[in-house]
Amino acid sequence: MTNLLSTPTTSALIPQLDVRGGRRLEGEVKVSGAKNSALVLMAASLLTEDRLRLRNMPGLSDINGMAEILGALGVRSERSGDSLELQASGLSQSSPPYDLVNSLRASFFCIGPLLARLGVARVPLPGGCKIGARPVVEHVKGLKALGAQVSIEHGVVSAVVPGRGHRLTGGRIHLDCPSVGATETLMMAAALADGETIIDNAAQEPEVADLAGLLIAMGGKVRGAGTPTITIVGMPRLHGADYQVIPDRIEAGTLLLAAAITRSTLRVAPVIPEHLGAVISKLEEAGCRIVPDGVGLTISAETIRAVDLRTQPFPGFPTDLQAPFMSLLATASGTSVITEAIFENRLQHVAELQRMGAAIRTQGNTAFVEGVSQLSGAPVTGSDLRAAAAMVLAGLAADGTTQVQGLQHLDRGYDNLEGKLNAVGASIVRRHA
Ligand code: UD1
Repeated sequence: MTNLLSTPTTSALIPQLDVRGGRRLEGEVKVSGAKNSALVLMAASLLTEDRLRLRNMPGLSDINGMAEILGALGVRSERSGDSLELQASGLSQSSPPYDLVNSLRASFFCIGPLLARLGVARVPLPGGCKIGARPVVEHVKGLKALGAQVSIEHGVVSAVVPGRGHRLTGGRIHLDCPSVGATETLMMAAALADGETIIDNAAQEPEVADLAGLLIAMGGKVRGAGTPTITIVGMPRLHGADYQVIPDRIEAGTLLLAAAITRSTLRVAPVIPEHLGAVISKLEEAGCRIVPDGVGLTISAETIRAVDLRTQPFPGFPTDLQAPFMSLLATASGTSVITEAIFENRLQHVAELQRMGAAIRTQGNTAFVEGVSQLSGAPVTGSDLRAAAAMVLAGLAADGTTQVQGLQHLDRGYDNLEGKLNAVGASIVRRHA
């Protein structure tokens, strides 16, 4: 007879971080390559038969996921240290599988280069996610302006370039909103189109400029990336390249916030300070001292005062640092007003911070954060990537131990966050609970 009480449970153990709060940080932390750049640069490998070597690639589950999706399309990839070589000479598929695309939104990027290179692409709609609906209307509108026939049926976006040669034709595209993903998708499509493409109201994020840098290294002609108007002259073919990914400005911002929330002094490097303008200025307004040295930034924090912030497209304050910054402001003196203006559902970390004793009230997409003198450790869950980072930061400042779950999100976008923080004095242990 089976003893039901001793039957092993079927539920798997859940990984979590035990963050012991109250420790000062000290020393220097290295910033990895930018996730959001790396993912789109990987998709750009579809544009050439030649070998593409990307350096400074972060170690993230999202990067492995993207390599898997490209692999399903016939792209060979090989990782060695922080370099990744990709070769799409055997590109055989125009349709990445649903389950892979569904697990990684950024894989929708593939539609642009697939269409440009093969004249046909069938990519499942990436769908919404926890932080908002995340439509791809602008991507589709732009591909149509370049001559593609696009239909969306049964959850799949099917695009084909009619006519002989199946080549896209350059055109003028005005984006209704400066979508990062749409801008990047269309830049890749336009790079192999016939003639010139102009993208107006383009996203100005540094990752867009990084993609332009790669396309130029591959023999492409791109002007104006980093401004609202980007011009791309299509080439008959692009060649291989050896290219270094920019440092991750969101990871750098998270590390600066780790120093601020623990009232510590820390050097964060390498960074490109212009990529962090709005973040540096808000940290300074909150009372931090930040000194650039040409390669990195040294931040020192003692008392933190309340500041108001509103997320905006670059060069405004990045939505990806809204949750981490809220953790800091939960410990500030005074009341801060934080408005999330990019995604409609990106305040889910509020409830978790409240579990740690934070005094936060929300109204629509605005949070009123009244700083408390001490957060207290509690079991919390990060509902998305940046919310998970916000929980780790709150844990660094809290009294006692904070158990952070939702690490499947954290590991998508942070390269060994706990290892980096432990090396400068934090006490974070990963275990299965
Ligand atoms: C990228 C980043 C993500 C960041 C976001 C905003 C990657 C892999 N991800 O996401 O980390 O949070 O930029 O900086 O680079 N929109 C529309 N219609 C569209 C497309 C977008 O209305 O067709 C809206 C979205 O709903 C959202 C806003 O535009 O409100 C910004 O989205 P977008 O810039 O497209 O973000 P992603 O490229 O998905």
